[in-house]
Amino acid sequence: MAAHISKTFLNVLNRGSVSVVNKHHHRSVWVISSCCTRTVSSISAAEPGLTPRLSSHLHGKSYTELHELSLRDPETFWGSIAGERLTWSKRFEQVNDCDLATGRINWFLGGQLNVSVNCLDVHVARDPDRVALIWEKDEPGTEERVTYRELLEATCRLANTLKSYGVKRGDRVAIYMPVSPIAVAAMLACARIGAVHTVVFAGFSSEALAGRIQDAQCKVVITCNQGVRGGRLINLKATVDAAVESCPSVQRVLVARRTDNPISMGKLDTPLEEAMASASPECAPEPMASEDMLFLLYTSGSTGKPKGVVHTQAGYLLYASVTHQHVFDYSPGDVFGCVADIGWITGHSYVVYGPLSNGATSVLFESTPTYPNPGRYWETVQRLGINQFYGAPTAIRLLLKYEESWVKRYDRSSLKTLASVGEPINHEAWEWFYNVVGDARCPLVDTWWQTETGGICIAPRPAHEGGEIRPAMAMRPFFGIQPALMGEKGQTVTGNDVNGALCISKPWPGMARTIFGDHQRFVEAYLKPYPGHYFTGDGAYRTEDGYYQITGRMDDVINISGHRLGTAEIEDALDAHPDVPETAVVGVSHDIKGEVPFAFVVLKEKAMQEQEVVLEELRRLVATKIAKYAVPDHFLVVKRLPKTRSGKIMRRILRKIAMDQTDSLGDVSTLDDPSVVMEIIQAYKQTFRG
Ligand code: PRX
Repeated sequence: MAAHISKTFLNVLNRGSVSVVNKHHHRSVWVISSCCTRTVSSISAAEPGLTPRLSSHLHGKSYTELHELSLRDPETFWGSIAGERLTWSKRFEQVNDCDLATGRINWFLGGQLNVSVNCLDVHVARDPDRVALIWEKDEPGTEERVTYRELLEATCRLANTLKSYGVKRGDRVAIYMPVSPIAVAAMLACARIGAVHTVVFAGFSSEALAGRIQDAQCKVVITCNQGVRGGRLINLKATVDAAVESCPSVQRVLVARRTDNPISMGKLDTPLEEAMASASPECAPEPMASEDMLFLLYTSGSTGKPKGVVHTQAGYLLYASVTHQHVFDYSPGDVFGCVADIGWITGHSYVVYGPLSNGATSVLFESTPTYPNPGRYWETVQRLGINQFYGAPTAIRLLLKYEESWVKRYDRSSLKTLASVGEPINHEAWEWFYNVVGDARCPLVDTWWQTETGGICIAPRPAHEGGEIRPAMAMRPFFGIQPALMGEKGQTVTGNDVNGALCISKPWPGMARTIFGDHQRFVEAYLKPYPGHYFTGDGAYRTEDGYYQITGRMDDVINISGHRLGTAEIEDALDAHPDVPETAVVGVSHDIKGEVPFAFVVLKEKAMQEQEVVLEELRRLVATKIAKYAVPDHFLVVKRLPKTRSGKIMRRILRKIAMDQTDSLGDVSTLDDPSVVMEIIQAYKQTFRG
């Protein structure tokens, strides 16, 4: 293995001095031995009709029995799993104390643990040379492998570096990096010392990054000089430089090197690898209370600025770990390939925390589905021997447009499970993924969840008796998840073959605890709409046989290539233009991206003569304020927007017009001036139909 490990990664590693926490580590309260806690061997393969072992108490039961138990007696269910699977420095005293009305959500009270110990030290103690990460770099065939021992050492060095710059327990650290071993080490280093990481997707602009750093009051930013994706270089450091100018909380910027190109270093900057090389390779893990913050992850809602979703230590880790094993049928020794970026929750739960807590080999995919050609995913599957492949429908929709030979020429016999996430998967994409990629041989699981849920909540696995999977459907709630559909009057919709607002009626260990700095917003957004339930923002259909199918967002959140964005954020960016008094953005369907933003723009009189110039400025504005992917695909200049008498924009009508579905506009009588509708339809026809 060592031969494959990169010089870049090895630079920071001093072989032979490993800080494994074990019973000989006299300074530590952490004891990892074969008699206590979870062992990797407890992750056993499925017996027919039965769910693989969750804990010794819960062995030999079916999905139905376990699901029923998880709802009826969460103390026994989650208590026994948490006791066996996680390594605690102090065992918890109470399984949970939750109230969905006020948003008081606590799991495993009284317990103390360290997430990095659970993801690294436990595996190093048993099998230090097992490969933890395979970094599938942008150029095919240049992958690098990192063992658990090496990852622990890098994590400790990075943790000590953070400490040397004054980062303490509870401090926030921003990570603005594409997926790489050093980025994973950065997340785990924060966890090791009790700091709170907030990973910002490296496609966000400097303003978006600055907004997140300011909200979280980050003390340190970790970045790299450049990103490499699809053969292109992305100047990440320059984006960070621009962002930190407006972030007085930032005391230090640690800069890793992804490329050999020169970097201009300012007075805040420190070269990360150099600092790590001189830091100690041992770092005692900080014992963290179960409910201490682990990370913040910013995500979009229907109103206001992105919110910092808070996840805590034990419940999040346990839920990521159990879902990773049971939804994907992960077995020890499997190579788990989730192609998400660590900037999103999928990367947190199923590139880093879930796989590493289970001792898996996790693939870090740096490239794109079409670089250098549309066979990239399947060539990677063949070369790395990937067993579980977890991707997004948008990539599948893109790839199915190419010749099947791009798939068929590669050996995909290692694949055992295929999985999809991020947006509804349409039938055509599901069938292609299942039949062409999986040769109709591997279960394809559509997994529904959110940043706020921490882990997968609805998916066809763990297998029901018989194990049936319906195409394009998330199907069944995971353990501890009790879905409910709500009607327009707030009532619970009972029975089958019904639609409603998707809620979850009981707390579960992985759920978000609050919004950073604004608990009231958490309560208002998720708990107030249907008192006593967590509201997801999605609609769902319950089939005749009781399975769940997600129908899409019910609010003003859109999903562009699986990236979630509030239309209000795009409107705020557009409204910043001095010639634009008012805008309304809606999502329209797109055959590859799923949805794209469509902007209705009102211009000031004087700007009407220079529409093209202003629209170009608007495109640039969205790219600089949010990200390139947020730039609307379509703009329509209109004189007025359709508003109700109370001044509310009727987006429902705009959505219909943008989708060219004007024969089903619905009721327009509540508009202040219904003639505006014809006016906008005319403008649409002129612009888009010539
Ligand atoms: O609308 C749902 C959609 O993505 C939203 C959550 O986005 P985010 O927090 O960025 O997390 C994405 C990855 C977990 C949901 O509210 N969504 C996610 N998965 C699915 C989905 N919609 C339909 N089917 C899915 N499998």
